[in-house]
Amino acid sequence: MKQTTVHDCKIVDIRKYTDNRGYLSVIEGCIDIPFEIKRIYYLYMVPEAARGAHAHKALQQFMIATSGSVHITLDDGTEKKTFVLDKPWKGLLVVPGLWRTLDNFSGGAVCMVLASEKYEAEDYIRDYGEFLKYKEL
Ligand code: TYD
Repeated sequence: MKQTTVHDCKIVDIRKYTDNRGYLSVIEGCIDIPFEIKRIYYLYMVPEAARGAHAHKALQQFMIATSGSVHITLDDGTEKKTFVLDKPWKGLLVVPGLWRTLDNFSGGAVCMVLASEKYEAEDYIRDYGEFLKYKEL
């Protein structure tokens, strides 16, 4: 987990079923994403300020802007990469060991996060200096 980089993360097309009634997208754990989903949380009514600004030691996540758009910047201590989520059928697979910041929420944006583990405060690294030490940088 310490050696992960921003290049281990990617935007994934979520499968969708379309007919004259509209779109339906589905995500099944261990089929569409590489982990079982143990928790779902979502961010909404976010004002100008950024969210996130932490890293996880083990947690895997899959992030989707189910409505509106959001920018997600990942940082492995050496390199940063910003991903734009702006479609309900696009998701970002985020591996552990990366510092993340979520900002630029559009009006009405909802960012849903599927997580591989239940909430564990001990899995968080909330200090950037500590993060760099964790990455051995
Ligand atoms: P926080 O980690 O600060 O949000 P962000 O992801 O934007 O950095 O979480 C805000 C609050 O919500 C904090 O008190 C912890 C709580 N929380 C839970 O209880 N369970 C969860 O699954 C999450 C993600 C947060």
